[in-house]
Amino acid sequence: MGALERLLAREPAGKVPLVLVTITNNTGGGQPVSLGNVRKVSEVCRSHRVPLVLDICRWAENAYLSRERDPTLGSMTIREVGRAYFDLADAVYMSAKKDGLVNMGGFLAARDAALAERWRERLILFEGFSTYGGLARRDLEAIAVGLQEASEERYLAHRVAQIRYLADLLGPEIPYLHPPGGHGLYLNAHAFFPHLSGEELPGQALSVELYREGGVRSVELGEVMFGEVADQPTKHLPSLVRLAVPRRVYTASHLAYVAETIRRVWARRQSVRGLRMVEAPPTLRHFLARFAPLETPPPVRTQSA
Ligand SMILES: Cc1ncc(COP(=O)(O)O)c(C=O)c1O
Repeated sequence: MGALERLLAREPAGKVPLVLVTITNNTGGGQPVSLGNVRKVSEVCRSHRVPLVLDICRWAENAYLSRERDPTLGSMTIREVGRAYFDLADAVYMSAKKDGLVNMGGFLAARDAALAERWRERLILFEGFSTYGGLARRDLEAIAVGLQEASEERYLAHRVAQIRYLADLLGPEIPYLHPPGGHGLYLNAHAFFPHLSGEELPGQALSVELYREGGVRSVELGEVMFGEVADQPTKHLPSLVRLAVPRRVYTASHLAYVAETIRRVWARRQSVRGLRMVEAPPTLRHFLARFAPLETPPPVRTQSA
C-alpha cells in the first residue's frame, strides 16, 4: 500500500489514469484479494482522485476464499461478499469465460453514467449495438445465467475442493504454491528444477515437459512472462506454472491423470534441460514466443541442505 501511495503522490495529477486490481490474483497463485486490501486501495485512490478498476473475472472464487479466511465476512452470502467488493470500485470489467461460466463474452461496467455512455457509443463501432454487445443474444443470456450459477455455494465448494484434491494427489514432495488457489494449482518451477537457473527458463521447461509427458496444458508465469531474460537478472523472479482447472469439465480421474503426469516429470526431473527463447515479438511474448532446447545438458548442481 505504501508503494502505491508513494507512486500516486509522486506522479503529476492525471498521469496515472487508473489503478487496476485483479481478483483473485491470477499471477500470484490464484489467491484471494482481501476486502480489507481493496478497501485500503480504494481509499488511496480516492484521496488521489484516481479511479479504481477491478478485474472481476474470478469474483465468485475470490468471494468464497476470502470468506473462508476473513471472519468478518463469515455470515455473508457469496453475492453479498461480491457486492462489498464491487461497491469499492469506480468500474469493473469481466471476462465471463471465468466466473460467468460461458464459452465467450464479457462486459464493462462503470459507476459514471457519462463514461458508460461513451463506452456504449464506441461499442457500436467495434462490437455492435449494446443490446447485443458483439455477442449473440443467446450468449448474453448465458452470461446472465452463468453469473447466478457461479455464485452458488455447492458449485463453489466443489470447484475449490477440486483444486485442493489435485494438490493432495501430489503429496508433500512436489513443490507447489500453498495454499492452492481458487482456479488452479501453481507449481514452483525453481524448486522443481533446482539445477536450472532463471536464464534456462525452468517454468517454460516444466510447462513443455508436462505437455510432452501427458498432453497436459499449463502456462508459465515466471521469467518468460515477467522477465527480460537477455538483459535483466531473473533470479529474484518467481517461476510458477499454472495448472488452471476448467470449470465443470474434469472428473476426479482426469485430475488423477494430471497428477500422475506431474509425478512422471518429477521422477525424471534431473534429466530435464532448460530452454532458450529463439523468437519473441516486442509485446505479448508470453503468448507468442518460440523456444528451443539448450544444446548442452545442464551442469549437475548439488542442492544445499
Ligand atoms: C484475470 C484475467 N483477466 C482477463 C483475462 C482475459 O480474458 P479473455 O481471454 O476472455 O480475453 C484473463 C484470461 O485468462 C484473466 O485471467
